[in-house]
Amino acid sequence: MALGRAGGHVTPLQDKKLFVKTYGCQMNVYDSDRMTEVLADRGYTAVDAPDDADLIILNTCHIREKAAEKVYSELGRLRELKAERTARGADTMIAVAGCVAQAEGAEIKRRSPVVDLVFGPQTYHELPEMLDKLGEKSARRAGLVETGLDVDGKFGRLPKRAAAKGVAAFLTIQEGCDKFCTFCVVPYTRGAEYSRPVATIEAEARRLVDTGVREITLLGQNVNAFHGDGPDGDAWTLGRLIRRLDTIPGLERLRYTTSHPLDVDEDLIDAHRDVESLMPFLHLPVQSGSDRILAEMNRRHTRDAYYRIVDRLRAGRPDLALSSDFIVGFPGETDADFEATMDLVREVGFAQAYSFKYSPRPGTPSADRDDHVPEQVKQDRLAELQAELNRQQLAFNRSFVGRSMRVLLDRPGRSASQLIGRSPYMQAVHVDFEQAAGDAAGAPRPGRGAMLDVSVIGGHANSLAAHPLA
Ligand code: SAH
Ligand code: SF4
Ligand code: F3S
Repeated sequence: MALGRAGGHVTPLQDKKLFVKTYGCQMNVYDSDRMTEVLADRGYTAVDAPDDADLIILNTCHIREKAAEKVYSELGRLRELKAERTARGADTMIAVAGCVAQAEGAEIKRRSPVVDLVFGPQTYHELPEMLDKLGEKSARRAGLVETGLDVDGKFGRLPKRAAAKGVAAFLTIQEGCDKFCTFCVVPYTRGAEYSRPVATIEAEARRLVDTGVREITLLGQNVNAFHGDGPDGDAWTLGRLIRRLDTIPGLERLRYTTSHPLDVDEDLIDAHRDVESLMPFLHLPVQSGSDRILAEMNRRHTRDAYYRIVDRLRAGRPDLALSSDFIVGFPGETDADFEATMDLVREVGFAQAYSFKYSPRPGTPSADRDDHVPEQVKQDRLAELQAELNRQQLAFNRSFVGRSMRVLLDRPGRSASQLIGRSPYMQAVHVDFEQAAGDAAGAPRPGRGAMLDVSVIGGHANSLAAHPLA
């Protein structure tokens, strides 16, 4: 019989249902999968809806006020669900994980007494022990809050990765951030920068490829600050790690996110030039095009420095497509500052981008300023910026019409004759096999996980249409 571990004694394997809801960034997606694996060892099976789950985990995001507020509305719904289940004699344990858990800790339990367990992003490897501490229903009332920030050892204590669910997977290589941009909660919710050793990353990548993964996105809050111990005892750069992972047979594509302009070094720029599996698409957040605002954000680079990095990257990889993050309405942002951002957008040209209204976050330096930008101004600036970014994205997508490209087929399409793939530039490509010349002849159709050459016939706001290259 399989047994669960529990601080010195063993508990029989339980047959329970787990529902995890994930908010926020890709790192939370990765963490949710790992939590599910930790709990699988403990007899929990993941389900797709909260209704009959014995344990519900909300893996939360604190980046903007709206993100954090979503958690409390969800907890309101879960309170009703728990009451219904209790009336039926079923027990429900509710846990809040992730960055809201880290930032607000015990406050969550005070605001929402329905919550049994609060645990931060660096503690989830201890979930079995936490569940043991909570114990049976009646003893659980006091609840438990675990918000240690010591990431060291976490990865080493996670179970071996289960088979991947798709052909594209995330792999966290770095956690935390020491940059302290004045608007951002991440250094407080994820803690100090930490890089995993190269050997453990490589082992995890090989395991993913063995279970069918063809594309890996390396993750970190500040991924290009990576400096993990290499097998030779040196600290390896991200560029060096990429070259190593490129040698894994069957791993067709590599990506990484999110990077900071300050940590784009020569090695990484060369990797973009030399490593074929490193996809020509880079998410490189700039936040603002105004030097004054960049300085007040503590981004520690200028607008010119960003241009220079982009030029150097494009010199080695001319087809490199860029994505970015922007914040409008940072405290003190004038019309001229905002215009500088619009200039930067027009100058660089983005294939895709995320843009946000500045949201004051408790505990961050810029939240305390007394020159906040009025909501309406933020709204207008965001609309203007997004109109330009959408225009650029559509133009970028349309530029592929009549050209061919290689896609990784990763999911079923809307109709039986379609599969959706991912382009090198992260576009969703709807591949229609029915319209393809020669398909009538009964040529076998490639399935999920196949790399396929396609001819692009349409470019839309958020996708491309294509058919297989004859
Ligand atoms: N590490 C990444 C970003 C992580 S957070 C980087 O350095 O760029 C993701 C994005 O959320 C940020 O790039 C920023 O654009 C946005 N963001 C962070 N804090 C914010 C805030 N207080 N208000 C609005 N947007 C914010
Ligand atoms: Fe936040 Fe800045 Fe760190 Fe990015 S680099 S996670 S924006 S503090
Ligand atoms: Fe959100 Fe935490 Fe990611 S605040 S963006 S979930 S690191």
